[in-house]
Amino acid sequence: MNMISPQTSSLRAALKNNVVRHVSKTFDWAAFPSNVGYPDLERAQMRYIGAGGSPKVGEPGTLKPEHFTLSLIFKHVGKFAACHAQEIEESFLIIDGVLTVGWEQEGEVVEIKLGPKDMILNARDIGHGFRNDGIEPVLISISVDVGKPLPPRYLYHPKNTDLELARTFGAVPGKTIPYDPEGAHPLQSVMSKYVIRHAEAPTIWDAAGFTRKIYVGPGGVESPTCRKEMLGVPVGVGVKPYTRDVEDAFLVLEGSLTVGWMEGDEQVEMELGPRDLVLNPAGRAHWFRNNSAGPCTVWSVIGTDQPEKLVFERA
Ligand SMILES: [Fe+2]
Repeated sequence: MNMISPQTSSLRAALKNNVVRHVSKTFDWAAFPSNVGYPDLERAQMRYIGAGGSPKVGEPGTLKPEHFTLSLIFKHVGKFAACHAQEIEESFLIIDGVLTVGWEQEGEVVEIKLGPKDMILNARDIGHGFRNDGIEPVLISISVDVGKPLPPRYLYHPKNTDLELARTFGAVPGKTIPYDPEGAHPLQSVMSKYVIRHAEAPTIWDAAGFTRKIYVGPGGVESPTCRKEMLGVPVGVGVKPYTRDVEDAFLVLEGSLTVGWMEGDEQVEMELGPRDLVLNPAGRAHWFRNNSAGPCTVWSVIGTDQPEKLVFERA
């Protein structure tokens, strides 16, 4: 029988260092210099792993990224993000509210509305912006790969574009096209390869007793960077310790998840609540279990595009 170690162990300290509690963080309204002075672009960022496009790199309390960053973005009703393109891939997972995302090409814009647990991966070099047209604030989780930290190229920013044109991501009246995966416009079909609707993504029951929906990776949106999945962990289900050769992260969306780390005979555990995160480094034996009385939903990011090789075993 392995020992659960005392409060003072170095393994426990290491796990604690890689857990980010939602309440330990503060939303930053000044994360993006390009928004300063433009109240319509107001947004707040909470950085968990890396700076996620903000120049505020390396701040205490934010974990160092290996292959991906992870942050939350909060947007009030009526606010928008100016259309821009960048050399990195960026995923938006909706946590609360409804977000309108637009992709622009030569003055035409395809707009999609994304609800809770829907995701879009903004492809490299495609102009994109987003707007909260809903009745409640929007909270999303953004992950970007860390390959090229070049700043975004703004295509329709209010600093040099009429505010209303910036708000529609560059589409003059009549040039906004609603998203339709069956639509004839080439941008509609391109976008359809980058969108996951939670309700339409197949639910895969892992033999270890939890569910997964593949968002990014084989079976979901194809990407050369990282895999992203949503896990559903029923009450009482857990897996035996496993190790990857890359890092993985869990952001709890609903319920609570107990995560454990192992080194030799020593094991330590911490319980995560909604919007808490753990980053499990490459090579670290770790596991998860739902010790609670209610189901748990987890957003998982894995620092490789390679297909899953692990076979999870129920603990
Ligand atoms: Fe972007």
